Amino acid sequence: MPINFLATVAKEGTQVIPKYEQLKRYGPYVVGALATKFYFSGSSNTWERNMHGRVVIVTGGTSGLGATVVRRLAKEGAQVILLVRKLDDGWLSEHISSLREETNNPLIYAEEADLADFQSVRKFATKWIDNLPPRRLDMVVCCAAVALPPSVERQASKDGLELQMQTNYLAHFHLLTLLSPAIRSQPPDRDVRIILTSCVAGVMGKIDMNDLGFQHQQYPKYKPYKVLGTSKLALSLFAYELQRQFTEYQRQDGAPSNVHVAVVDPGMMRSPSFRRFVTFGSLWGLLLYLIMWPIWWIFCKSSLEGAQSLFFAMMLPDVQYMTDVAYISDCRVRQKPPRKEFEDKEFQQELFKQTEKLITDTERFSAKKRK
Ligand SMILES: NC(=O)c1ccc[n+]([C@@H]2O[C@H](COP(=O)([O-])OP(=O)(O)OC[C@H]3O[C@@H](n4cnc5c(N)ncnc54)[C@H](OP(=O)(O)O)[C@@H]3O)[C@@H](O)[C@H]2O)c1
Repeated sequence: MPINFLATVAKEGTQVIPKYEQLKRYGPYVVGALATKFYFSGSSNTWERNMHGRVVIVTGGTSGLGATVVRRLAKEGAQVILLVRKLDDGWLSEHISSLREETNNPLIYAEEADLADFQSVRKFATKWIDNLPPRRLDMVVCCAAVALPPSVERQASKDGLELQMQTNYLAHFHLLTLLSPAIRSQPPDRDVRIILTSCVAGVMGKIDMNDLGFQHQQYPKYKPYKVLGTSKLALSLFAYELQRQFTEYQRQDGAPSNVHVAVVDPGMMRSPSFRRFVTFGSLWGLLLYLIMWPIWWIFCKSSLEGAQSLFFAMMLPDVQYMTDVAYISDCRVRQKPPRKEFEDKEFQQELFKQTEKLITDTERFSAKKRK
């Protein structure tokens, strides 16, 4: 059929092509837009790994990127534990029931760990590690984050620290350091992975060791997007110290470390937090966002496209992981971002120490306040 048509065009000219003039005028734009869209959609993960029966903890698994990751894991038969801010949420139980049904996987659960509240994170982690023999744990995927619109004033967590800094960085630090004994005690033949989600905003980050909770910065010096960048930079630097600690840990059985840490930048995605960010959380912004939808469609990824790099980190064979952190974007292990802190082991260790101190002090303060 197409050969017949091409032969007719060759013989009788382009006038036999329906709507040829319009095609000639608009065709190049459409092709250009589709080619740009294709480029910005990024690469797809091609690795496969058997996820059946693996136990995975996911933060931020109820929305955007995290929800996409949870769906894939559930479809592949993993046991997924979603850490959510509130358990007694009608929507959540419906969501989990429909996910179980859709993926034919009953092993999807939710546990409460509000990342804006250190006590809530501690409660979950303590319950998890308080088990003999230690519970199986194959992977922790950290997708939860808050990205405040650029126009808002400083928002505080339940512990009084800046909300983005606590949710995106400090709470994940708290969770992973508390879970460390459970992670280290997995059998040596189990390939354990910790996957942290970073963001390009990390290049704007500026870490002040004396104010990691952004307690002393107020408007106009306070810029939410810079705090977002700082939280993501700190999270990525934490990954390097965490990997070092796991690698240097002397296991009782003498086996080498089986824990791999990856930092993944999924790229810009049209997720709920992205929408909130670019609309400045306003109705007018939302209207503008809808008008500009083709631009977002072309230049930003869908959650599924963004999740490809996370799938890559989850499925990549362990031999491809080096002893260092795997920094992944667009389904490739990259060089570290061009920031001197990524080469600075002392800085990373100092950040770890100061973060630990801030969390301990804040937990004590919050406990006193509760009493
Ligand atoms: N979107 C982008 O363009 C982009 C670009 C680069 C990197 N990233 C990163 O990718 C990850 C996912 O982003 P996304 O855009 O998909 O986000 P999203 O759709 O806004 O989802 C954020 C998730 O974090 C959870 N969360 C927020 N505060 C929490 C708290 N206090 N306790 C427990 N959970 C909490 C949310 O739970 P609720 O459903 O209860 O709110 C939600 O599940 C983030 O780490 C983000 O920084 C995103």
